[in-house]
Formats: sequence, structure tokens, C-alpha cells
Amino acid sequence: MSNRLPVDRVVEEDGSTSWRASPGGLVTAVEPIVEQLGCLWVGWAGSADERIEPFEIGAMRLAPVELSSEDVERYYEGFSNGTLWPLYHDVIAQPEYHREWWDRYQQVNRRFAERVAEAAAEDAIVWVHDYQLQLVPAMLRELRPDLTIAFFLHIPFPPSRLFAQLPWRKRIVEGLLGADVVGFQQVTDAVAFRMTVERFTRAPALGNTVVVPSTPDEGSRTVLAQEFPISIDAEAFAEVARRPEVRRRAEEIREELGNPRTLMLGVDRLDYTKGIRHRLKAYKELLEDGEIDPAETVFVQVATPSRERVDAYRQLRDEVEVTVGRINGDHGTIGRAPLVYLHRGYSREEMVALYLAADVLLVTPLRDGMNLVAKEYAACRLDERGVLVLSEFAGAADELRDALLVNPHDIEGLKAAIVRAALMPLEEQRRRMRSLRRAVDDNDVAHWAAGYLGSVLAAAEARRIGPGG
Ligand code: ADP
Ligand code: F6P
Repeated sequence: MSNRLPVDRVVEEDGSTSWRASPGGLVTAVEPIVEQLGCLWVGWAGSADERIEPFEIGAMRLAPVELSSEDVERYYEGFSNGTLWPLYHDVIAQPEYHREWWDRYQQVNRRFAERVAEAAAEDAIVWVHDYQLQLVPAMLRELRPDLTIAFFLHIPFPPSRLFAQLPWRKRIVEGLLGADVVGFQQVTDAVAFRMTVERFTRAPALGNTVVVPSTPDEGSRTVLAQEFPISIDAEAFAEVARRPEVRRRAEEIREELGNPRTLMLGVDRLDYTKGIRHRLKAYKELLEDGEIDPAETVFVQVATPSRERVDAYRQLRDEVEVTVGRINGDHGTIGRAPLVYLHRGYSREEMVALYLAADVLLVTPLRDGMNLVAKEYAACRLDERGVLVLSEFAGAADELRDALLVNPHDIEGLKAAIVRAALMPLEEQRRRMRSLRRAVDDNDVAHWAAGYLGSVLAAAEARRIGPGG
């Protein structure tokens, strides 16, 4: 279960409805596993006040949970994306704490838990995803003690001193401790969680394991809280990258852009955590300093629409679009814009064609749980060409050590890395890209699932055998 289903219900202007792939890394990573296992996926279909019957896509069975407009406003836009999202991303934006948002978060979490409690078979394994549903594990355990419950957090877990701001911190920690396994993206997230548990509950952590003391209903039990860095189906991306029509489309993209010597690319949800403002500032200064020639360089920024009714996102969009206008106004010519800004979603094939067309990929978030775009770029570059500029504050930086690692707050450092990427000799590109591709292949989504689900199965087995062994 996750807040969103892998597809979103879209109401067109003429009132007709259609389905499109949901945005974000969660779906990219989890969908191939769900398809393979053929599980039931419980989540929201993306439109408010609409009751949708369960349906199937291939091997996936989808069970929509209904959200009212007020749920969307308070649980999704409010508590999930106005409180937790900024709090968990190093307080880049100011989190807001509203009691009515918290109340609704609890109510909606309960609805998800009840929905799964009704649907799950005896002794089933339930896998709960991400920050929108952190209370579900404990609620579900209470409703269905027979289930084995796994939780995975796709975003960072904040340091204890920041998490401490949350008025309902203890409740969130207790919610998560309802799971048998709690998975995180990075070691630092798992460590921060275990320290937070010790600080706000009385459960001690022994290595990766938290010991939850006995309650009147239950004896003491253990929760595995460990990092399992998420990944992509690398071979599925490589397969698309091999298709002749996708390769042709990559060439066509370069032609449409006037065959620049250097094509740089950014692909992000339009989110303030992604560092888009810093990236544009660096590019603008490089054009102003004359270090980048607008006659030879094009920067394509794909900025996927995201959470458009949340204030911080509206403000970001306004700022980004003003900056894009300025850069092109100051440095463009008739028939040539140094910056191409695309605010829409694309098919997997078009995304891969963009990756193949790009000489340089700029992934410079201020904070990111993982960042799958970085891994997708490496998976697609069968030719071992292209340069990845990667923020050290993205989880992916733990694995992709041969990217050009940058601190996105350091604009001079960012500018130097962009110039270095644009001028990098082919031999160095090859050496680095080979290493990136190896890292992605060695930990693809199947590997991740085997590690994570292996631990969940072990927990299920331990529950079956019981404490006496
Ligand atoms: P997040 O989960 O924060 O959005 P990730 O980089 O981990 O960030 O995942 C983003 C996913 O969304 C990737 O699989 C990427 O290919 C996909 N994506 C991003 N922008 C678009 C777009 N405009 N059209 C289609 N897919 C996109
Ligand atoms: O983990 C990041 C995440 O919140 C996922 O839950 C989701 O896949 C993605 O970002 C997109 O966000 P939203 O569902 O709010 O559009």
C-alpha cells in the first residue's frame, strides 16, 4: 500500500476521464516488483471525491482508497506535504504544524489500515510505503495481529534534533514500530531513526534491531530498522535504450535543438528539494561569465508538475519560470534558446531518448532520499558516454561514487563541475560511466527486493515459529 496507486485518474477538459502513470520514484521502483509478485496494491487514484471500483492492470490488482477534497487538502497537501515533507528534507522549507492536519492524517491512515485489514489473507505480508502512511503499521497490527508488516521510507529520515520539532513525534515513531521491518534509503536514515526511537520511546536499539517492550496485549518483540537503498529495473531501461526507434528519437532531439556541442539535461519533479533554482543560477552565471557559449550549449530542464496547490510549490514554479524567461531573454537569439523548460510528463521511451541525447545530466538536489533519475541515466548509457553531476545530498551519491559529486549550495563549485562535465575527455567519461553502470547493475531493483523482502520473509518465519523457537 502507498498513498498513490501506480496510475492516476485524470479528468480531461471535456469532462472525460483517463489514466496516466503516477509521478515519482516510488512507482518506478515498486511497480516491477508488484507486477512480478502479482500482489494487491491499495492506494489513492489521484482524484478527489471519486469512488472507483477495484481494477486490474496486467498482473497488478489495484484497490483504490477514496479521498475527499478535504482529505486531499489536510492529509495529503497539508500534513504529508506541508509538514512532513519539509521536516524530513532538512527543513529546506518551513514545516507547518496544524492540529486539524494531524487529525486528518490519523483518520486517513486509519482508513488505509482498515481497507488492508479487510483485504489481506490470513498471515499475509503487507508492505506499507512512505511518509504519508507512517501510522498504518501500528494500526494494522492492532486490527490484524496475524499479519507480517513491512514499511519502507522512500525519503530521508531526519536527524533527531529536527524530528523533535514535530508535536506528534512519539505517535509517529510508535506508528512505525508497529512494523516488523522498517526500511530506509541510507545508513544515516536508519541510524537517525534508531536514535529517535531511543529518545522518544523506551524501546532500546541493539545494532539494527529495536526491542519493543511488552504491552498488556503482546510480549516484547523486535523490529529490524535497517537501510535497503532502493533501485530501478536497470535491464528494463537498457532494453528501451537499445530500441532503434528510441535511438533515432535521441538523434532527432539533438537535431531539433540545433545540434548543440553540449546538451545538458535536468529531470525532476518541480520540487524545492531538487535544487532547480541553484542549478539555474549556476547556468545563468556561466552564460554571463562567458564560460558557456549559448551558441554551442543547450540545457533542457524537464520539471514535472507536482503538488501544484501547495504554496511552496506554487512559489517555486513562479520563481523558476521567471528565471527561465530571464535566461532566454538575455542569452537567446531568434531560433535558439540556451534553456528549454518543459513542464509536463513524458513516456518512458521519451525519457530514455532524452537520457541518450544528453551529454551531461545535472542531478543536484539539496536533499533527496535516493534519486532514481541518476540511476536511470547510467542504466541507459550502454555507450559508456555522458557525465553525471550528482549532489552529495542525494542518497544515490552513496553508490554512484564516480559521478562528479557536488555541494549544490556552493554555486562556484557547481559551476566548476558543470564546466568540467561539458569538457570531460571521452576516456574519462568512459571510465566513470563504466563504474556508475556497474554500481546500478550490482544493486538493481531485483537485488534490492531480494534483500529487503528476504528480511521480511525471515521476520514472517520468526513470527510463525514464535519466541520459543
Ligand atoms: P522523486 O521520487 O522525488 O520524484 P526520483 O528521481 O527518485 O524522484 O524519481 C523520479 C521518477 O519519475 C523517475 O523514474 C523519472 O524517470 C520519473 N520522471 C520524472 N519526471 C518525469 C516526466 N516529466 N515524465 C515521466 N517520468 C518522469
Ligand atoms: O517518495 C517520494 C514521493 O512522495 C512518493 O511517495 C511519490 O512517488 C512521489 O514522491 C510523488 O509525489 P506525489 O505522490 O505527492 O505526487
